[in-house]
Amino acid sequence: MNTTTHTGKRIWLTGASSGIGAALAEELLARGHRLALSARRREPLDALAARWPQQVLVVPGDLTEPDAVAAIAARIDAEWGALDVAILNAGTCEYVEVRAFEAAMVERVVSANLFSAAHCVEAALPLLRKGDQPLLAGVASAATFLALPRAEAYGASKAALRYLLESLRVDLAAEGIAVSVISPGFVDTPLTRRNDFAMPMRWPADKAARRIADGLDRRALEIAFPRPFIALLLLLAHLPGRLRLAVTQRMSRNPSKDDTR
Ligand SMILES: NC(=O)c1ccc[n+]([C@@H]2O[C@H](COP(=O)([O-])OP(=O)(O)OC[C@H]3O[C@@H](n4cnc5c(N)ncnc54)[C@H](OP(=O)(O)O)[C@@H]3O)[C@@H](O)[C@H]2O)c1
Repeated sequence: MNTTTHTGKRIWLTGASSGIGAALAEELLARGHRLALSARRREPLDALAARWPQQVLVVPGDLTEPDAVAAIAARIDAEWGALDVAILNAGTCEYVEVRAFEAAMVERVVSANLFSAAHCVEAALPLLRKGDQPLLAGVASAATFLALPRAEAYGASKAALRYLLESLRVDLAAEGIAVSVISPGFVDTPLTRRNDFAMPMRWPADKAARRIADGLDRRALEIAFPRPFIALLLLLAHLPGRLRLAVTQRMSRNPSKDDTR
């Protein structure tokens, strides 16, 4: 692999085998950056590497496994010696059926969305410290702005990820490492194609990728879209508690006591 002819940034992108991550990989490669691509499935990463052989490093692995993440970072270190940007995008979503609430499911989702990101942060920081204008970015969700029905596990994992990133932003400022929080609304990906409910203002993945890449270029603190959807969530979030409950309860699938008698 030739890594010497490209002047673009050295970027580690997780969750690059599908959806937002795959579209973002295409966008960043087209902008001339070098990408280290991670996900569990190797084939989609190899396919990208075949199309962009000068710019892609394939570093697959299960990011919930600390040893796998450490091995990925060691490989990046050996190939590039540093990272300029780390984009923690890998994640999953499962919805809660509240009448069969399962702690194991919460654990699974938090492991995929929060603990995996923490492993990646641990692995990425030493490389970012050696990078040029370093930037750490994480894909949270618009769900972090408002507690939504059935999103107990997903929303909790993403709210925790937001807090982790925002705290890191404060602590890393002295070292010149910027932190961006990415908060997409609905984006058309294999993850959301499983949903059986209306997804207002859903964006195609390539449009989301362009918005994210532009935001990362500006080192934006928050990259949240689509704007009208985010504005609606923030408006609802700022309603008085009982009014907010009355509105969001209408979205819940848990039947009222009267309906179940
Ligand atoms: N789509 C939306 O509307 C939306 C909205 C807000 C936030 N998000 C967030 O955006 C991110 C991408 O979602 P998406 O919609 O593009 O979903 P997706 O198409 O299902 O992609 C998820 C990516 O994460 C990877 N991944 C999941 N678990 C992993 C693990 N343990 N180790 C390594 N890689 C793992 C998957 O790769 P493998 O399966 O190959 O491992 C895949 O590349 C997620 O964090 C999601 O929560 C999505």
